[in-house]
Amino acid sequence: MKETYIKDILKEDLVGKEVSIKGWVYRMRDMKDKVFFVIRDPTGIIQAVVKKDNVNENIWNDALKFQIEGSLELKGILKKDERAPTGYEIEVKDIKVYDYGQPFPLKGDEEIDTIQKYRHLWIRTKWFVDILKVKHSLLKNLREWYINDGWYEVQPPILVGNAAENTTELFEVKYFDQKAYLSQSAQLYLEALIFSLGKVYSLTPSFRAEFSRTKRHLHEYWHFEIEAAWYHLEDLIKAVEESLKYSIEKTIEERKSEFEDLKSITGRDIKELKDFVEKPWKILKYEDGIKKLKDLGINIRYGDDLGSDEERILTQQFDVPIFLTYYPREVKAFYMYENGDGTVKNFDLLAPEGYGEIIGGSEREWRYNILDQKIKEWKLDSLKIEVGNEEIDAYEWYKDLRRYGSVPHSGMGLGLERFTRWICKMDHIRDTLAFPRLRGGWLY
Ligand code: 4AD
Repeated sequence: MKETYIKDILKEDLVGKEVSIKGWVYRMRDMKDKVFFVIRDPTGIIQAVVKKDNVNENIWNDALKFQIEGSLELKGILKKDERAPTGYEIEVKDIKVYDYGQPFPLKGDEEIDTIQKYRHLWIRTKWFVDILKVKHSLLKNLREWYINDGWYEVQPPILVGNAAENTTELFEVKYFDQKAYLSQSAQLYLEALIFSLGKVYSLTPSFRAEFSRTKRHLHEYWHFEIEAAWYHLEDLIKAVEESLKYSIEKTIEERKSEFEDLKSITGRDIKELKDFVEKPWKILKYEDGIKKLKDLGINIRYGDDLGSDEERILTQQFDVPIFLTYYPREVKAFYMYENGDGTVKNFDLLAPEGYGEIIGGSEREWRYNILDQKIKEWKLDSLKIEVGNEEIDAYEWYKDLRRYGSVPHSGMGLGLERFTRWICKMDHIRDTLAFPRLRGGWLY
């Protein structure tokens, strides 16, 4: 079916011709002998006028019965009208009613509790629709870069037997008579897949049972992860910088009108984004980051992990994203490559303007003996999984990857909602997806 969308009829050469659109009532004004509608669809808005003298009684009565968000199909003549919000107006000849609608419970100035309760209706809000479109483009363009560069998309499992990151933040689920968890990261499975495909990426939901409620934490988020054989940390950093710049640059081109709307809501100016794309991104060692923070009077010591406040302050010192590299081994995951000096070959990508971490990545520990020692040191060797009637070490299969043709490799995970939050300059992560999972929020 070839549908006609509002954006397709806002055209000079259709003026004077009959047009037809389907949509929802966005605004409505009854002026006794005429009713003005503004109709919306996923592509825009258009004004429509129903004149009592121009239509039969049935159509006129129908026009009067609509509520905000009622659904309809309109047929009429397209006219130019300077006073209309998008410069055009449809003079209505016929209305097909789908649903008059009931009084809409949202007016646009609701408190967060009401928005939560009516989330399923609130998601029609214009600026939120803009965010969804920007997010769509960011993801599409990110994928495009990896596909063009020869990476394969793969589908790792969500029900898993071991923790990629940290055992305390797992959601436990019943898997028949076994215990399983909802995945925090596809990383370990992507590491297995590089031996088959070389360079792989995946997009999966990731689950974190973190107790903290902050403006950048969700319990369920979309995780874009990559893993590549033979890649060292420098290769990974290069791929990340190139792919994110490509995604941002194309998204700016594709979403001009959405960014124009968002400017008045969140203050995001695309000039700022163009700047991030044009300048080289900063690579800074953790050690130097700590020095910088200390010089700024922050109470932090070498060996401390950076919290969101420290990340915010550090990012405010630079006008581009920062790859903060070579963290102390104790504050990072067991699978990162050991440099031998107490640091690991990793980076966190900190988004500028105070946003902080949007990616975690590293070169992986690919040497069997060192990985084996670390699994023991982290006490992960006590974790077991059931395979048939046997109970085996949960990380035994992961160690096999270092027994049968191990190679240097690296990978990273990007939180899609954190990326979107930064690009759209939003305050809270919850409005980067339709149905956020937040502790204490609605679950439906
Ligand atoms: O730094 P994290 O925990 O790294 C990993 O999961 C690695 N295994 C990824 C990999 O190397 N394949 O998480 C990666 C990213 C973070 O930088 C952040 O953007 C996002 O995932 N993230 C969250 N986003 C929203 N809510 C949360 N609670 C998040 N926790 C992590």
